[in-house]
Amino acid sequence: MNNFAKDVLKGLTSDKKYLSSKYFYDDNGSRIFQEIMKMPEYYLTDAEFEILSLQSKQIFESLKFTTPFNIIELGAGDGFKTFKLLQYLVTNNIEFNYIPIDISEEAITILEQRLKEKLPSIKIEPKVGDYFEILKENKESNVPSLLLFLGGNIGNYTKEKAQELLSLFNTSMKSGDKLLIGFDIKKNPITIHNAYYDKHGITKRFNLNLLLRINRELGADFKIDDYDFYCHYDPISGDVKSYIVSLRKQSVHIKAINKLIEFDYNELIWTELSKKYSLDEISNLAVGTSFKLVSNFLDCKHLFTDSLWKK
Ligand code: AVI
Repeated sequence: MNNFAKDVLKGLTSDKKYLSSKYFYDDNGSRIFQEIMKMPEYYLTDAEFEILSLQSKQIFESLKFTTPFNIIELGAGDGFKTFKLLQYLVTNNIEFNYIPIDISEEAITILEQRLKEKLPSIKIEPKVGDYFEILKENKESNVPSLLLFLGGNIGNYTKEKAQELLSLFNTSMKSGDKLLIGFDIKKNPITIHNAYYDKHGITKRFNLNLLLRINRELGADFKIDDYDFYCHYDPISGDVKSYIVSLRKQSVHIKAINKLIEFDYNELIWTELSKKYSLDEISNLAVGTSFKLVSNFLDCKHLFTDSLWKK
């Protein structure tokens, strides 16, 4: 049984059903996510793009690197969000080596091609695979590094898991290395609600694609029209929680795990956490994972921050 099948079995046989949002991103899901990022309501992408477009100089100066350095991007994807930073550095003849890491070979190949076209002099060393294997090499190198973890991906981890992940980043960094990490900031709850409970139904499609993926890859017989999408933002905790709702009492057979899963009328499957942070919470998270917060780079509307931390 592969990991996807094991996790589906565990999540759908649990008392409160859940599925991990990391499985959203098959080819179809990745395409739907691109659509989400283009929605005006999904302000995160534009806000981070603005930060990197207007503040790359300040970010670079805050690094205080005096020698050539590595930029290691964790989960680089198609690299769109990082382009403005790379462009600033290349245009200003700053010496660096860009090491994008992603689990998708396809995404990394596209990224490499596009960057070589647009910034022909860039030194790029793409890597496919597990972050931590690749980060081990960073610890042993004597070149200073900037780690990038952008796009608000940290929000998809619970507080405990985020602490665990950031502590692991910290262990694989050298003293003086920096981490630039994107956080979506707590704001007017309606703005957040509209970004996730979008009126076009794209986020609904993004969630229901997970059931289609289980149908395709694990031979299940989910009838998509019998499920809906719901999400809720709690402005106190900062948690956006997304759910799939069963619109009927029904059962689904999943061939690959040889299981019949029963759903009650209105039963939920929890699919995603998208956590929002206050600036104080970000600062506490940095200190709690052995980093020093150097600076927060916010967009002009203060929706999002790329927070620079130092080991
Ligand atoms: C990838 N991640 C930061 C997105 C988020 O905002 O949590 C995924 C997403 N889910 C619904 N819309 C976008």
